[in-house]
Amino acid sequence: MTSFIDHQIMTRRPKFDFSKTPIHWIANDAFNTHVFNSLHVFIPEVEYWFCRLSNQTLPYVKDDNLRADIKAFIAQEAAHATAHKSARDYLSNYKIDPSAFTATIEWLLRNVLSDSPLGMESFFARHKQDWLAFRMGMIAAWEHYFCFIGTWVLNAGDLDHVADPAMLDLMRWHGAEEVEHRTVAFDAYRALAGEGLKAYVGRQAAMAIAFPIMVVVWLKAAAHLGKVDGTVEGQKLGKKSLPRLIWELDRVGRKTDRLPTVSSLLGSLRLWAKPGHHPEHDGDIQAALRYVTNRLSLEKA
Ligand SMILES: [Fe+2]
Ligand SMILES: [Fe+2]
Repeated sequence: MTSFIDHQIMTRRPKFDFSKTPIHWIANDAFNTHVFNSLHVFIPEVEYWFCRLSNQTLPYVKDDNLRADIKAFIAQEAAHATAHKSARDYLSNYKIDPSAFTATIEWLLRNVLSDSPLGMESFFARHKQDWLAFRMGMIAAWEHYFCFIGTWVLNAGDLDHVADPAMLDLMRWHGAEEVEHRTVAFDAYRALAGEGLKAYVGRQAAMAIAFPIMVVVWLKAAAHLGKVDGTVEGQKLGKKSLPRLIWELDRVGRKTDRLPTVSSLLGSLRLWAKPGHHPEHDGDIQAALRYVTNRLSLEKA
């Protein structure tokens, strides 16, 4: 199996200084800020879960290049998780405590998306490879969107003028590496599920589950941060229902270049639905590699 990566995936461990980051670090706007901040709330737990499942996938992968890519993918995701965890210091500087939300995510990953969901050990042990394949399909589905959002954030020029530089750098570094390793989870899924109709149906089913979870977790985490951030604007955000949050995301995305629009997120599902889809065609790999290379030389200077 070919992994279609023509560059070596590298592990980088950049440092970020959030000591001067204001509470609402995008245009002094609680909604816009917390839609980004929600990544600090769920990314560490979710990406450590990516690492655990990718590790479990390795024995099923015969291709040495793909095995190397999966190991590099694990190292990058672990570095992302660590970086977003460090951004929780910025949240605690403002006495924002996301632990109630984070605990729910952790519970879901360890009990529902685990190797034996809700203690059903014998059934899932009998279907071990299929269950692992389905969850890797979900990871590939989320990686599809991480590449989409990574590409978007690298190009969102508005943010240069209204966002805290350190936090924007974290988002762009993470986004660029998502573009860099965009094919790995997809290829790992194919190593487990194969290439035929069953694998295609499984991939679509994985997205059908993964996409709504992503939207709900992302926006509900943002609302939770608003609820606990102690500001009047945050309180208003905390009271918004899910449809209202989706509407607000679209409104800001249409009016400014500070969030992706809902229609662009939905439109990306069309790519995923194509039977011949492969993420090697997604994102701008050259722009992504340029960003990580430039920031590394600036950090060294
Ligand atoms: Fe990541
Ligand atoms: Fe990723």
